[in-house]
Formats: sequence, structure tokens, C-alpha cells
Amino acid sequence: MSALTESAAWRALTSLAAADAATTLSQRFKDDPARAQRYSAEACGLYLDYSKQRLGDDGIAALLALAEQQQVPQWIARMHAGEAINVTEHRAVGHIALRAPRDAGLQMAGEPVMPLVHEVLDRMFAFADTLRNGAWRGATGERISDVVNIGIGGSDFGPRMVWEALAESDTMPRAHFVANVDGAQLSDVLAKLAPTRTLFVVTSKTFTTEETMTNAGAARRWLTAALGDAAVFQHFVGVSTARAATEAFGIAPDNVFEFWDWVGGRYSLWSAVSLANIVALGPERFRELLAGAHAMDEHFRNAPLATNLPVLMALIAVWNSNFLGAASQVVAPYAQRLSHFVGWLQQLEMESNGKGVDREGRKVDYATTPVLWGDVGSNAQHAFFQMLHQGPALNPVDFILPVAATNALPEQQPLLIANCLAQSAALMRGKNAAQVRAELEAQGLSGTALDDAISHRVFSGNRPSNTLLLPRLDAFHLGALCALYEHRTFVLGVLWNINAFDQWGVELGKQLAHQVVAAQSGSAATDDDGLDPSTRRLLERIDGR
Ligand code: F6P
Repeated sequence: MSALTESAAWRALTSLAAADAATTLSQRFKDDPARAQRYSAEACGLYLDYSKQRLGDDGIAALLALAEQQQVPQWIARMHAGEAINVTEHRAVGHIALRAPRDAGLQMAGEPVMPLVHEVLDRMFAFADTLRNGAWRGATGERISDVVNIGIGGSDFGPRMVWEALAESDTMPRAHFVANVDGAQLSDVLAKLAPTRTLFVVTSKTFTTEETMTNAGAARRWLTAALGDAAVFQHFVGVSTARAATEAFGIAPDNVFEFWDWVGGRYSLWSAVSLANIVALGPERFRELLAGAHAMDEHFRNAPLATNLPVLMALIAVWNSNFLGAASQVVAPYAQRLSHFVGWLQQLEMESNGKGVDREGRKVDYATTPVLWGDVGSNAQHAFFQMLHQGPALNPVDFILPVAATNALPEQQPLLIANCLAQSAALMRGKNAAQVRAELEAQGLSGTALDDAISHRVFSGNRPSNTLLLPRLDAFHLGALCALYEHRTFVLGVLWNINAFDQWGVELGKQLAHQVVAAQSGSAATDDDGLDPSTRRLLERIDGR
């Protein structure tokens, strides 16, 4: 048994979970008419309703005791103090500095960082202005109409998600995002573009990521085939922590925008990683995004645990997965423009907390992050919601609902809202056999036909969800929403005593890809190529042998 699972707070929660079956969500609402008001919290314009969680005041108190026991307040303070809380890489964790005001005075590992952050922000804003006002032109003198971000993982998910969320159909220049080493993605994007009007942003923290370097090389060949080598200067900029590598690629030093090793890839959308969006959406929109995230940072730092949105959401997630045995965490944004939100969140949460050892390197004896998945509503209702309602496993849902429409058809918004609220109500209320029987009888069914139909139509209900309301999907509230989930992820790591800021689990596959590439090119002899028999046989089969 680990210290965590033997701790007083964990044991108290285990006994409360054993009593969970004694009541239901519907009963809890009957017992407490003020439950919907009491089990809610608000910050930065975001309203969290967690009344549909299988928790009472005793459960909330026990979860708050767990947060105190695991020293959540102290860890929040350590993050803000710029301590090296990424213990396995001996680095500070500084994404909060990327959205802090110039005079915030934050330090990372003892170094003042606000001057660095704002110097790069100022340079990016000036660069974006020159592109947007036509002062920066392509090699033939044409204005830039398309900005292509080439990056993967944290150098892609965040900016892509923000672009999808905030771009309008007439936003100019347009941004495009290429991540996959499957040439279909880059070739499909390039097929629509003119080299004379295209700017590439090569975005890679390390500037060594194979997929990104391969796509960047192909893009450079596409450009220089049309415009010659000298055109690289006006058509390629770089975003990286590795300045020397960007120069080796051929990007002019003045066209490189830096960030720092205290910014994790999946926490980097606030940095120069968003350069394509700063250009395409404009500096003002990016400032609003940063302001929303900063507002959430301040809430996270200052609000008491009991009303602190990221802390509450992390505690609820632990309750559901570690104590109620939830199989996964579903996220369902009721906003088409958040169609890339779950992808961004999957990397954030599962690359951060998908760990099997604790901070001290001991194997954990409790579940860490559950599978996080989902899709936008209302589409998802016609895909996996059947399973959420009637499957045997518990899959709690976060419903995310921007209230006001930001599109040309606001008259459809009430129906979208109704669908979102109806799903969480159905998950919570369910429908019992007596209700089903009465409905079917009213439809004229009787006898064995009626009896046989009932069990298929029963919903157990009592299935938990959160609902997060945003006033609208604008840059400020999107920033606050993303920061909320970032901090939720951090708090989960603290509660589970794991380091949410490394990702060693992605390395082995990268190493083996090199071996496979060597075997493909015949540079390694087949018998000692280091490949296992299955991989070798698959390669032979692919080769037609
Ligand atoms: O997936 C592994 C990873 O290292 C992520 O953490 C990162 O976001 C991604 O690769 C891309 O890395 P880079 O920005 O260095 O190209």
C-alpha cells in the first residue's frame, strides 16, 4: 500500500464511496432544494454546476481534506514562485508567466522572466502587424495571404484549436496547420496555396521532432522550387527554444521567435507557438486570450479551495475515477467551434498524468489519469451517448456550453442549449421500469410485447456530469477555459503525487522508429537490426516479401 492509499483522507473517501449506493442523484436533489445553487462555483465568467456529481457535503469535505493533505495550496504557491516543480527534468513550470502582465515580477528558477516574455510578445505583435498591413511581403512583392504552422503535439494542438474556435470565414490571412508526417496533410494544404503568398511557421520546441522536420523540409522544397533559395528568408520563420537549430535549418536569426525550457510543449499555446494565430487572428485577439488565462491564473492562486474551479474539477475527477471506479472521462463541448478542444485536452491531460510511478519513482497502486475522450455535441449524441446512458460502465461527462451564439444563425442556439441540458438531465435522472411501462401502455402496448420491451428502455440514471457555462466563445473566455483545464491537470498530478510535466513515455516509440527507418533503408542487417520478429515480418510484408 502506498502512503497515499493508506492516508487518512484516502481512507475517509473510500468509506464514503462504499456508502454511495445508499442514495442517488435524484434523491440528493429531493433532499436539498438548494443543491443546484450550493453545488456551483464561478470565476472569470465561467460558471460550474457540479450539482450532478454523486457527492454530498461530507464527500466535498473529505475531498477538500485530501487537497490539504496533498498540499495543493503549497504546490500552487510553488508553481507561482517558479520553483523547479518538474522534478524529473529539474525545471520550473512557467506557462503562467506567458500570460502575466509586464509588471508581474515572476521568476522561473530564480531568473526574472517577464522582460523576456514581453520582449518576444512585442516582437511577435510587431511582426504580425507588418504582415497584416502589408509591410512584410513575399519574395515577389505579393502580400501574404496564408500562414502555415508546421508543428506537432503541443506545437500544433493548441494553436489549431484556438484557430478553429476564433477564426471567422473572412479572417485574413488564413492559418493552416500541418502536423502529420502522413504526406496527405501537407500536400492537401499546399495544393490550395500559392508559394508567393505563403508564410511557413516552423514550430518545434526542440527543433528535432522528426515529423515536423520532415514536413518543414518538404515545404521548403515546394517553396524554393517555385521561388529559389533566397525566398526562404521572407517565407519561413521559426518558433523554438533551440535557436541554433533554427539557424541550421536556414531561418534568419531575426525571424526566430523564442520560448524557454520552462514552458512544456502541451502548455505552450500562450507562447510564440501561437505565432500563426497572432498573425492571422491579430495581436488584439491574442491579448484577450492571454487576459482570460491570466484571470484564471489569479483565481487559481487566490481562491479558497472550496470555490476554486480547477481544484474542484480535479477533486471531482479523483472522486469519480479513484473512488466510484469511472472507466473514463468524457468531455463534450456544445460548440462546433470547439471541435479541436478535446484533442488539445487529450494531450494536456494524458501526456501529463498518464504515469505509473509517483514523483519519487515508486509504482502507484491507484489509478492515475483515466482515458479522456469526447466530441462536440450535438453530434456526439448520435455516436457514443447511447453507451453513456445505458452501457454498464460509469463515464462522467464535462459538458461545456457557450451560452450566446457567435455565428450567423443565433436562432439555432436555443435548440443547442436544450440538447446539452437534456443530456445531463437524462444521465442524472434515468428512467425506471415503472415509467417505461406507463409510457408503453399509453402507446397501446400490452402483454409479453410490453414485458419484453421494458428492460431495453430502462435508463439507470445516477450518472454524474459537470456543466460549464461560458457567456460566449470569445478569446477571453476561451483563454480562461484552457487555463482552467491546465490547472485541473496540475492539481490532479499533485493529488496523485505524480509529476505532470514530463513525458518520458513518448521516447521509446521515437527510438524504435529510428530502428525501423534504418531497417527500411537497408542500412541495418536483417538479423541484427534490433527488430522483434513481428515488426520484421510486417516490414517484409509491406515490402511485398
Ligand atoms: O509527443 C511528445 C512531444 O515531445 C510533446 O510533448 C511535444 O508537444 C511534441 O512532442 C512536439 O515537440 P516539439 O515542439 O519539440 O517538436
